[in-house]
Amino acid sequence: MELKITCIPGDGIGPEIVAEAKKVLDKAGEVYGFTPVYTDILMGGTSIDACGVPLTDEAIETARSAQAVLMGSIGGDTTKSPWYKLPPNLRPEAGLLKIRKALNLFANLRPAYLYKELADACPLRKEISDKGFDIMIMRELTGGLYFGERKTVEENGVRKAIDTLVYNENEIRRIAIKGFEIARKRKKKVTSVDKANVLDSSRLWRAVVEEVAKDYPDVTLEHMLVDNCAMQLVKDPAQFDVILTENMFGDILSDEASMVTGSIGMLSSASLNDTKFGLYEPSHGSAPDIAGLGIANPIATILSAAMMLRYSFDLDQAAGAIEAAVQQVLKDGYRTVDIYSEGCQKVGCVQMGDLIAERIQ
Ligand code: IPM
Ligand code: MG
Repeated sequence: MELKITCIPGDGIGPEIVAEAKKVLDKAGEVYGFTPVYTDILMGGTSIDACGVPLTDEAIETARSAQAVLMGSIGGDTTKSPWYKLPPNLRPEAGLLKIRKALNLFANLRPAYLYKELADACPLRKEISDKGFDIMIMRELTGGLYFGERKTVEENGVRKAIDTLVYNENEIRRIAIKGFEIARKRKKKVTSVDKANVLDSSRLWRAVVEEVAKDYPDVTLEHMLVDNCAMQLVKDPAQFDVILTENMFGDILSDEASMVTGSIGMLSSASLNDTKFGLYEPSHGSAPDIAGLGIANPIATILSAAMMLRYSFDLDQAAGAIEAAVQQVLKDGYRTVDIYSEGCQKVGCVQMGDLIAERIQ
């Protein structure tokens, strides 16, 4: 069986980590009897340099014609890179927003999981981290403030900027359904996060989530205000199973959740539409400061490739084998520099990829 995969190596450490994910996928293919076929496209800064825009229409069509997209990371140093002197719609991030919208990738899954082997890296107090946590953030990805009308005007010599937070009930319903579906396969609890004490969009969000919940009597629903959620994530992360939330809140809370795991280099993500198609990328950024040094941690991208096998190709066994191989490498004491602790063996990006590939059974 051939798997048609579009790759976006991207900027910064992107090409290094995607190369390792491909290596691991190829090995999984040998063991489980499938052949990944990759086509690369440009996105972000590399696309700006080559084509003058962060994502061309042809690149979108190439992505659309595949079954899934595997992405590294995009963007550069926002204070130094010339990409950030361009108008906002021509900067690297605009490419990412464009592909999300064009491919209707409205459901963004971001797991935040505390690895036993890396518990020392967790910045929370030991009595909190000892409880462990395993959270799935389900972030709406193609609506809200990110895609509402925006403009900057000048009125009577005073500059004014406007961003609009819009959601219609259909956009809320489809992401809520995804949230409840995934909760059903986990611990059957959804925490819907909003700002319903202030925002109309949040009051509609809450009402629609309540309606959807009626079809999932086996799943417990609770509502939480976003400021409280930010607090609860550091106070008692073990209380969460699925966090269901809108685009902007999800952007912020997912960074917070990944930080409390202490190992953002380990966290994968999937962005899905209504079909099997998905875009898979690590939760971390392009880390331009360490690009090309060979020290990046490829594990988040490798785990994203595992998510891809599970969600886009129904290859659960192969996905599980990749996850088990990652766990085994950690057990065996190998660490990239970002997750290094004393007594472990420090390895680079390529070596980490080799070690994981070797352990796939
Ligand atoms: C993310 C990133 C993006 C976002 C940026 C790069 C536009 O922070 O994927 O979380 O805000 O969605
Ligand atoms: Mg973000």
